[in-house]
Amino acid sequence: MTRLGTPLSPNATRVMLLGSGELGKEVLIALQRLGVETIAVDRYENAPGQQVAHHARTITMSDPAQLRALIEAEKPDLVVPEIEAIATPLLEELEAAGVVRVIPTARAARLTMDREGIRRLAAETLGLPTSPYKFCDSLDELQAAIDAGIGYPCIVKPVMSSSGKGQSKIDGPADVKKSWDYAMAGGRVSHGRVIVEGFIDFDYEITLLTVRARAADGSIQTQFCQPVGHIQVSGDYVESWQPHPMHPAALEKAQDIARKVTADLGGQGLFGVELFVKGEQVWFSEVSPRPHDTGLVTLATQWQSEFELHARAILGLPVDTTLKSAGASAVIYGGADALGIVFDGVDEALAVPGTDLRLFGKPESFVKRRMGVALAHADDVETARRHAKEAASRVKPRRVD
Ligand SMILES: Nc1ncnc2c1ncn2[C@@H]1O[C@H](COP(=O)(O)OP(=O)(O)OP(=O)(O)O)[C@@H](O)[C@H]1O
Ligand SMILES: [Mg+2]
Repeated sequence: MTRLGTPLSPNATRVMLLGSGELGKEVLIALQRLGVETIAVDRYENAPGQQVAHHARTITMSDPAQLRALIEAEKPDLVVPEIEAIATPLLEELEAAGVVRVIPTARAARLTMDREGIRRLAAETLGLPTSPYKFCDSLDELQAAIDAGIGYPCIVKPVMSSSGKGQSKIDGPADVKKSWDYAMAGGRVSHGRVIVEGFIDFDYEITLLTVRARAADGSIQTQFCQPVGHIQVSGDYVESWQPHPMHPAALEKAQDIARKVTADLGGQGLFGVELFVKGEQVWFSEVSPRPHDTGLVTLATQWQSEFELHARAILGLPVDTTLKSAGASAVIYGGADALGIVFDGVDEALAVPGTDLRLFGKPESFVKRRMGVALAHADDVETARRHAKEAASRVKPRRVD
């Protein structure tokens, strides 16, 4: 039986989010609705999730000393990583000592914090189909890996990076040095390690949102949302929709891959399993042990969004992944480098039928920073995509000096 408390009382159920961006903000709102006391942690003040939580804390989450001090002071029942750049060995230590429960598990947070842990687990331990790959620590090693079998075209990514940062495609020998230098400049931690992957010429890519939640009999059961289709530009998602139609054989393979990788990572919560599909062939790409940016679409398409599913699953509550309607999401970028921008045209945007909007409230805008998302539901995915893109384009972020 799950018991929830009253926030701000001695009986509160306390949940700490490590990372409080737009995805964390929605998880926090879902937790707030269940009367959970929330602690929103980020590296800068007034992060989106900090604006909707009971408590806001600002620390460097990759610093084990700062993270330990905060967890020991706050004593949360659950620690929920929302970003990758966290001192995960410390979380493993605290979890092993019984100090906290980490969502889904501290090991999952460590394995997915860089590309190497999760890729080796998926391909080498679990035997899942992936692109051919090699890890390299120098330009010479990169060239050797390409020559020894990865071939052209291929993709180079810093092992520690997300949203396409430092990632580029190599079409031929002339691009190799450029890609290496780009990766060195774009990685999160400059320790100079990259993965080079053979380019998969997929028909489409999906995120398979997969939830591990407790069933009535107490066992952990795996449930799948309908596939989320998406388009990435320079490794960053710009548009997503649900459901994405799939050949039944491909869907079965996708679910099988997702079941295996999430079962190994374990724990309770929602995962975003990224897959490439060509005909009936399916490749595992990567997995987030937390809500996925492309899954923002579920705010418009499911009875329980991926954020509500995550909140419920981590609290030990039953979940329902049923689709409510076809729908789509379209990203709104800042378009300018400025503090405290304004958004013109929100009224025009919301005049598009079946649309909704999330403006994340980020204090600082960058040209390519995701500042909001337009959502649309419709009878079919094509209409929803058109409406979401139309609504997004009507929102005009502006700097005011
Ligand atoms: N081996 C590959 N072959 C073809 N396309 C690829 C390959 N690897 C990555 N891509 C493309 O680049 C996108 C981003 O790659 P990946 O998911 O590995 O990086 P990321 O930085 O973690 O992105 P995000 O944080 O947005 O998920 C993929 O969604 C896919 O469109
Ligand atoms: Mg990705």
